[in-house]
Amino acid sequence: MPEINKYAVMGNPVSHSLSPRIHQMFARQCGIALEYSAIKVEEGNFSDAVIQFRKDGGKGLNITVPFKLEAWQLSDLRSPRAQIAGAVNTLKFDGADKIFGDNTDGVGILRDVTANLHKPVMDAKILVIGAGGAVRGIMGPLLEAQPASLHIVNRTAVKARELAAVFSKIGPCTGGGLDETGTGSYDIIINGTAASLYNKVPDLPASIFTAETLVYDMMYSTGPIPFLAWASEHGAGICSDGLGMLVEQAAESFFIWHAVRPDTKPVMQALR
Ligand code: ATR
Repeated sequence: MPEINKYAVMGNPVSHSLSPRIHQMFARQCGIALEYSAIKVEEGNFSDAVIQFRKDGGKGLNITVPFKLEAWQLSDLRSPRAQIAGAVNTLKFDGADKIFGDNTDGVGILRDVTANLHKPVMDAKILVIGAGGAVRGIMGPLLEAQPASLHIVNRTAVKARELAAVFSKIGPCTGGGLDETGTGSYDIIINGTAASLYNKVPDLPASIFTAETLVYDMMYSTGPIPFLAWASEHGAGICSDGLGMLVEQAAESFFIWHAVRPDTKPVMQALR
């Protein structure tokens, strides 16, 4: 019997990851046999863990916090979107000894916002909150979708300005502190900070949104998400967590590995 193809998600923590369930649902839908596990890796052991997984016959990996930067460094070849993001969430091993690194987070959020939530990104005024690794991954694909403007604000303003300078090569992008949200409201607001993990809400004025604004948090949790709860209390009409982004980025990784595009809708319904 041929050996079953092995895939996994590596991170720390990783035990609550939905990726094994998502990839198994995609695989059943597409008639592909695969094994997909969640592997907890201690900091300092990442490259050894990847090399061992590959030696054991692994074909590809998803990479989550805190290893996306190390995965970028470990990649011999990178897609242009991973190259500029400086972060990799998908590794592919094939017959050759080269490791291919890609970043599917940006496409994931773009598909969720435009196809699932029906909010156009083209010509939209976008506010992104945060300037860490999670935000780096989504900037390129968002700007390629031609928003009217994309403003990044961050608790540490200089990091937002630096990030905006890097990405202003792709589209109209500016950066500043949390107190520099400008005047007027936005069409789309994306929280990419780690604040929700600590049950905190970035210190922002409620004037940034109206009832028509899509307020999006890249985090997914079965419990309430503080940023979305805050926005909703202050009159935001359309709020979304990051479950759709998680499923869409997984679909793009699945496509990279298997050259088949799964249907994300039934998977999203099953997880809700
Ligand atoms: P990740 O890879 O998840 O993006 P990160 O690179 O450590 O993690 O970035 C975390 C982001 O969340 C940063 O933008 C951080 O702001 P600073 O650059 O000022 O540290 C932001 N963040 C974390 N806790 C926050 C809080 N309580 N309020 C506002 N922003 C917060």
